[in-house]
Amino acid sequence: MSEWVLLLGGSTGHGAATAKRLARDGFGIIAFHFDRGDAKKIAEGTIAEVNDITKGNCHYFNTNAASEESMDRYIPKINEITNGKPLKLLLHSIAFGTTTNFFGEKPVTQRQMDMTVHVMGNSLLYWTQKLHQAKLLSSGSRIIGLTSEGNYLAMDGYGPVSVAKVAMEAIIRQIGWELGELGITANAVQAGITPTRALTKITDNWEEWVENTKKRNPMRRTTTPEDVAGTISMLLNPEADFINCSIIYCDGGESRSGSF
Ligand SMILES: NC(=O)c1ccc[n+]([C@@H]2O[C@H](COP(=O)([O-])OP(=O)(O)OC[C@H]3O[C@@H](n4cnc5c(N)ncnc54)[C@H](O)[C@@H]3O)[C@@H](O)[C@H]2O)c1
Repeated sequence: MSEWVLLLGGSTGHGAATAKRLARDGFGIIAFHFDRGDAKKIAEGTIAEVNDITKGNCHYFNTNAASEESMDRYIPKINEITNGKPLKLLLHSIAFGTTTNFFGEKPVTQRQMDMTVHVMGNSLLYWTQKLHQAKLLSSGSRIIGLTSEGNYLAMDGYGPVSVAKVAMEAIIRQIGWELGELGITANAVQAGITPTRALTKITDNWEEWVENTKKRNPMRRTTTPEDVAGTISMLLNPEADFINCSIIYCDGGESRSGSF
């Protein structure tokens, strides 16, 4: 396999679509997911498909990718898989956090805030540090994280994730600033509202969000995981070598469209 990508959260939603797209682009896929029950069944379908497209150049690990123990345990395995070759991409596409308000019936706790900000934000920094130390990132490698409009808007139940998104964007900016001289870039892709498993967990009114988004979005539809996968595929081209410390919008203009 000539080039490998590492996807944190590669079994459903944006991560799964990206795995399939990059597999079709010719990359070997290394991915983490953390699925039980029904989600595990969906994950098995994704893995079978990616395995098929890559002709077996596909390694999925069902474990908590945000724990330091997992990073230390799996980075040597990743090194073995790629034969020491640096990764083309580290993508953070993990959705795992507390979706509750700061006040009211179930006010968020410190533990929930710390966990959400760690898993959905800070963990990208620790993965990048450790991969860098293991020489698994080099000129041409991309660090990409997924952000959302919740990075500057307050929304029902989204407070903790919103804080994590802002942390992640600052982490990405700083990584790109520090590693840019090595030819390693870091960027965030801001996806519009996408009907995925994660969306259904933010609010019971997610279907209403989807309908309102379709009206508000200039292109009259919601974002698809395939839209985001296509953007990430594009960002791996050499023409994107100089895009660094940026937020790339993949939302049909949704975030520029006022509500009504
Ligand atoms: N859905 C949207 O509307 C939307 C919009 C903008 C940004 N995003 C962001 O996109 C990213 C992916 O979300 P999605 O909508 O595709 O959700 P999703 O629920 O479909 O996918 C989440 C993925 O994360 C994995 N995961 C969860 N916890 C994990 C852990 N501890 N370790 C390893 N893997 C773990 C799951 O197994 C799954 O593969 C998130 O960062 C989310 O905030 C989503």
